[in-house]
Amino acid sequence: MATQPRAREQWGTRAGFLMAAIGSAIGLGNIWRFPSEAYKNGGGAFLLPYLIALLTAGLPLLILEYTIGRRYRKSPPAAYRRMSGPAQVIGWWQVAICFVIATYYAVILAWAVRYVGFSVGEQWGDDPDAFFFGDFLRAAEQPGWISSYVGGVFWPLVLIWIAVLAILALGVRRGIEVANKIFIPLLVVFFAALVIRAVTLEGAATGLNALFTPDWGALTQGSVWVAAYGQIFFSLSIGFGIMITYASYLRRRADLTGSALVAGFANSSFEILAGIGVFATLGFLSVSSGTPVEETVTSGIGLAFVAFPAVISSMPLGGLFGVLFFGSLVIAGLTSLISIVEVVVAAVQDRTGIGRVPVVLGVGGLVALVSILVYPTDGGLYLLDAADHFINQYGIALAALVALIVVVWVLRKLPVLQKDADATSAIRLGAWWRVALGVVTPLVLGWMMIDSLRTEFDENYAGYSTGFVFWAGWAVALGALAFGVLASLIPWKRDAELVGVEPEAAPDAPVEGKH
Ligand code: PFF
Repeated sequence: MATQPRAREQWGTRAGFLMAAIGSAIGLGNIWRFPSEAYKNGGGAFLLPYLIALLTAGLPLLILEYTIGRRYRKSPPAAYRRMSGPAQVIGWWQVAICFVIATYYAVILAWAVRYVGFSVGEQWGDDPDAFFFGDFLRAAEQPGWISSYVGGVFWPLVLIWIAVLAILALGVRRGIEVANKIFIPLLVVFFAALVIRAVTLEGAATGLNALFTPDWGALTQGSVWVAAYGQIFFSLSIGFGIMITYASYLRRRADLTGSALVAGFANSSFEILAGIGVFATLGFLSVSSGTPVEETVTSGIGLAFVAFPAVISSMPLGGLFGVLFFGSLVIAGLTSLISIVEVVVAAVQDRTGIGRVPVVLGVGGLVALVSILVYPTDGGLYLLDAADHFINQYGIALAALVALIVVVWVLRKLPVLQKDADATSAIRLGAWWRVALGVVTPLVLGWMMIDSLRTEFDENYAGYSTGFVFWAGWAVALGALAFGVLASLIPWKRDAELVGVEPEAAPDAPVEGKH
C-alpha cells in the first residue's frame, strides 16, 4: 500500500471546476423532470416556490458542500470523519447511494445512445410505446425476479462504461475537467438548436401556454412546495456527496460562494430552457394529433422514449431532431454519471491510499459490472424504477437531512465553515445562510420525508400488487444505510489516514475527531 503522502489532485482552472460542477448538475433531471413538475404544480406560478427553494435551500446547501469539500479536502467519508469519527457513516451512506444510482443511470444513457441511432429512419414505427417496452426492452409483464438477459443495450452500455472509466482514469484535470470543457459547450449548442426548432414548430404556443399559464391557487398547496424543493435538490445534485468531492480538488483560494451562484443559476437557466423546448414540442404533438396538451404530458422514461419518438415521426426532418434530442440526453447524462462515479472512486482512494487507475479499474469496474449484469434483463426496468424512486426519496433526501442535523446542530460547524467561505469571496454569507441551513432546509426535508412515507404506505408505490417493487426498493434504500454503518466500523490504518494530507493545508485544517 502506498504510504507516501501524495499531493491531492487539483482542477486546472476555476472555469474547469465550474464546468464540472455545472456538468454534474445538468442531467436527465433538467430535461425530463423539470418540465412536468412545473406543469403539474401551478405552471408559471411554480417558478415562485422554485425560486424560493433555490434561494433558501439550493444555493445554501451548494455553498455548504463546497466549503466542506474545500476545507477538509476529502471525499465525503474522510471529510465527515475529519469533522468527527462517527459522522463518516453519512459519507459512506452517500457513497453507497452514488454506487446504486450510477448502476442504473448508465443504463438510461445506453438506451439514449441506441435511440440516437433509431432516430435515423424512425425505427420505432407507428407504436413507439410497444416498440420501447416490447421490442426494445422486452420487459416482463409483471415485476419480478430476473429470468432472461436482453442483449439490445449490451454494447452501448459497455461503450458508456468504457468512456466513463477512461475519463476517470485520466484524472481530475486531464480527464474530468477536459471532458466537461468539451461536453458542456457541445450540449449548449445541441440544446439551443433543439429549442429553436421546437419553438418554431406549429402549435408551440399552445404548449408554452399550457406550461406557463400561472395557477396561483396552487401556491396554497403544500405538495407544490414539496415538489419545488424536491426538484431543486435533485437538479443541483445536492445530498449525493458529489459537490463535496469536486470541491475537494479546489485550491485554497477559490471563491466558493461566487461559484455556487454561477453553477446554481446556470443549472436553473438550462432547466427553464428545457421546459420551453419540451412544452413547445408537446404543443406540436397536441396540435398535430388533435389530443389536448394535458394528455400528451409525461415525464421521465415515457417522455423521452415514447412521446418524443411520436413527435419525431410526425415532423419534417424528424430524424435530425431525434439525433439532437437523444444526443443531448447522452451528453447531459454522461457528465452527471462521471461525477457520481467519481464519488465512489475518490472515497476508496482516500480510504486506502491506492492510486487512481487501479481504483477506477477495480471499483469503477465493479459498478460497471453490476450495471451491465442487472438491468438489461426482463425484470430490469422494474428494478430500475424501484431503485430510482426509493434511493431518491429515502436515500438522498434522508442522508441530506441527517447530514444537516449533524453538521449544523450536533457538531456546530457552520460558523467555521462560514468564515472559510467568506475568507475567499467578495460575497459575504449572512445570517440567512445559517437560518436556511439550520432551520428552513431541515424542516422542509423532514416534511418531505413524512409526506412521501405517508403516500408510500397509502398507495404501495406505483400500485404494484405483488409488492416486489416496494420491497426491492426498500431493500436498496436501507441497504445503502446499512453499508454506511458497516463501512464505518472498519478501523482506519494510520498510514492510509495520512495519505493526501499536504503540509500546506490551511493551518486550521481540522484534525479533530480521529479515533
Ligand atoms: N442533477 C442531476 C440531474 O438533474 O440529472 C442529478 C444526478 C443524477 C446527478 C444522477 C448525477 C447522477 F448520476
